[in-house]
Amino acid sequence: GGLLCGSEGTLAVVTAVRLRLVAALPEQVTALLAFDEVGSAVRAAAALRDSLSSVTAIELFLGDGLALVCEATNVAPPFPTDHAAYLVVEAAARADPSAELSDAVAGLEEVRASAVATDEARRRGLWHYREAHTEAIERLGVPHKMDVTLPMAAIEGFLDEVGGCVSAVSSNASTVVFGHVADGNLHVNVVGLEPDDERVDDAVLGLVADHGGSISAEHGIGTAKRRWLHLSRGEAEIDAYRAIKAALDPEGILNPNVLLPPVTPTDPGGTAPP
Ligand code: LAC
Ligand code: ZN
Repeated sequence: GGLLCGSEGTLAVVTAVRLRLVAALPEQVTALLAFDEVGSAVRAAAALRDSLSSVTAIELFLGDGLALVCEATNVAPPFPTDHAAYLVVEAAARADPSAELSDAVAGLEEVRASAVATDEARRRGLWHYREAHTEAIERLGVPHKMDVTLPMAAIEGFLDEVGGCVSAVSSNASTVVFGHVADGNLHVNVVGLEPDDERVDDAVLGLVADHGGSISAEHGIGTAKRRWLHLSRGEAEIDAYRAIKAALDPEGILNPNVLLPPVTPTDPGGTAPP
């Protein structure tokens, strides 16, 4: 099972699975927290992850993304003034986790505004500011989407630099970042460039590698990112994976064009000759 996890269909076809289901926790509370510095939000996310045992989600978005969501989906901003960064924090438990969440938030020093909801409609309202990002961004054009992971300690530095890194590629391009910050997983979206203009992917994924991150997180490598796999995986690792693939899929018929980089520029298959 471990070998197949994340192999993106390149090694085997799974024909049956047995799932262990876990009952959903009935009591949920959602908070939206505002910060005047991105670094404060990232530090708060790390602190909440460590101190709030009932936490189930910590999501980050930034002031420009919020403005875009409010305009595109015609909703009012959550707070009277704008802030640099926001976290959606959710906790769930068998008994109402509101007090635990409030205590954890009270322990954070740099929260500038907050809203808390326990009822479904208001919780959904807070989530909307985060969840509508994808839709709002897509109204601006076809985005370059980069699903990356960074070490927690590198996120602030990366966010400081990513906008400039993109503008250096093209002054028409703009960047919107949001993501699953408790996992170090950021979704970097760049609009204003042709969909097949890969300079921005080169620049952003290179910046991720410079900060010790991974070029892929939850969305995988697929066909779109295999060209950059070398930024996150060494030659020996890629060779070992090719050997495993050759052993399990000698004909090279399982998802031939994904994950592994092409051996030669003309080879679409990514399977080394034996
Ligand atoms: C999200 C999808 C894009 O986090 O992964 O909204
Ligand atoms: Zn995501």
